[in-house]
Amino acid sequence: MKTTKVPASTRDRLLRSARAAMKNAYVPFSNFRVGAAILTSKGKVFAGCNVENSSYGLTNCAERTAIFSAIAEQGPDLEIKAVAVVNHQGVPCSPCGACRQVIYEFGPDATIFYQGKKGPKESSIADLLPEGFRLK
Ligand code: THU
Repeated sequence: MKTTKVPASTRDRLLRSARAAMKNAYVPFSNFRVGAAILTSKGKVFAGCNVENSSYGLTNCAERTAIFSAIAEQGPDLEIKAVAVVNHQGVPCSPCGACRQVIYEFGPDATIFYQGKKGPKESSIADLLPEGFRLK
């Protein structure tokens, strides 16, 4: 496993894109807006926001929205190099367990940028999800 090195300019591009997508969040239940952006191996950026539902468990996190949008637009051959996650409150918010597993599926070497307890943080997905599951 080689964690992807991401230049500061690329990180900032991802954060900007995540912030823009965050504005579109559908959050009538939590009122907690989240935005995410992913960088693909082809250098493209896809963004997403959280989309909640009256049946709470059907809520889709911003990270998964971004990943599913990428696949919908460019097909299943997706390699995620990096992910940025932001929220409108600027509070600590790392990807949830379900999103970690979905990120891992397409980016086992991905670098994740998020707000940690002591400020902005950068972690490898392998650190966030040790022994992630792969069927093949
Ligand atoms: N949420 C995300 O979109 N991403 C995260 O990394 C953490 C949580 C959303 C789900 C729900 O709409 C709201 O935040 C509160 O849990």
